[in-house]
Order: sequence, then C-alpha cells, then structure tokens
Amino acid sequence: MKELGAAYVLGVDAGEQPKAIEQARFAADTLGLDVDFRTLSVYDLREIGRQFDLVLFMGVLYHLRHPLVALEAVRSVCGDALILQTITTPHDRALNEIDSATLQKVGLRSPVLMEDRFPTVRFVEGALDNDVTCWFIPNPQAVVSILRSCSFRPNQSVFPTPHEMIVRCSTQ
Ligand SMILES: C[S@@+](CC[C@H](N)C(=O)[O-])C[C@H]1O[C@@H](n2cnc3c(N)ncnc32)[C@H](O)[C@@H]1O
Repeated sequence: MKELGAAYVLGVDAGEQPKAIEQARFAADTLGLDVDFRTLSVYDLREIGRQFDLVLFMGVLYHLRHPLVALEAVRSVCGDALILQTITTPHDRALNEIDSATLQKVGLRSPVLMEDRFPTVRFVEGALDNDVTCWFIPNPQAVVSILRSCSFRPNQSVFPTPHEMIVRCSTQ
C-alpha cells in the first residue's frame, strides 16, 4: 500500500505468529518504506481510534474463534473499502446466492436450509491440514452474508483457487 502511494499505512497482527510484526518491520526497513506496525489483536482495533480508506484482511478470518466480533471491529476502522481473503469449502468459482426474500422467511424445516448454496460454516475441531489455528471453513455464500451482517457491502468476489475467495466490500 505504501509503494502504491498511501499516505499512512498501519499493519497489525497478534496471533499465533509472534514474529509476524518483526518480519514485516524487517521487510519495510529493507525496502525503505515508512510503515507503522503494531502488535494488536483484531478484536481491539477500536483502540486505534481512526478510520482507514482501505483495510486489507487477508488470511485471518478462519483463524479467529469469534469472526463476527472481529469483523465488527474491522468495520469500526474501515472508512471506505475492505478487501478480505479467506479459505472456503470447495466452490465452482462463482457466487450463487439464494435470493434474500427466500432467506428472510427461512424456517427450521425449509428445504432451502439443506441446499449447498445456503450460507454455511463448517466448524474445525482439532486441526485443518495439521494447522491447529483454524476454527472454521465458510462457504462463499456465508462469507458474503456474514460481511453484510457486519455492515459491509460486498460488491465483488473473485475465486483464485477452488478453496479460496477474495471479496471487496464498500462501507456505504
Ligand atoms: C495465514 S496468516 C496471514 C498473514 C497475513 N495477513 C498475510 O496475508 O500474509 C494469519 C495471521 O493472522 C494472525 N492472527 C491470528 N489471530 C489474530 C488476531 N486475533 N488478531 C490479529 N492477528 C491475528 C496470525 O498471527 C497470523 O499472522
């Protein structure tokens, strides 16, 4: 972001990779880039007390035990746009959503509940590909509906691999 001309860039991390910030500082110093870094949990983003034009939230969502709480905190610092990357359950590189009117009146016995395109999250108890830091795997529909429920407006989704998606959201 700094190389692309951003006036101010802040990077935060506070998870299972204790050296992530150290590594990022090393990279910025090596490239001669003026970037701030803080060890700060996503849950505590409100502490920053300001908003950013663009928030990148890459590869973090599925490492969190409280993803909606985290996204609400992300929303509090997001002034304009969010770009989020996450793993997903396998998809065919398209977002095929159930219409919102149907979703509004869903019941426990509704057949739509069992459709593949219903927003669904798989919980990971233990490890995912030997990684014990992953807690859930959403389908693409769950990613965008969770984002909407946290006051983001998903407006573009891309699918780099069949197990991953990147979503761009606006806040207006
Ligand atoms: C798969 S890595 C992605 C790193 C980086 N965002 C990227 O795109 O290369 C997941 C990162 O999430 C961080 N993380 C996990 N829980 C976190 C939390 N509560 N707050 C901030 N970062 C967290 C981990 O420390 C780890 O560095």
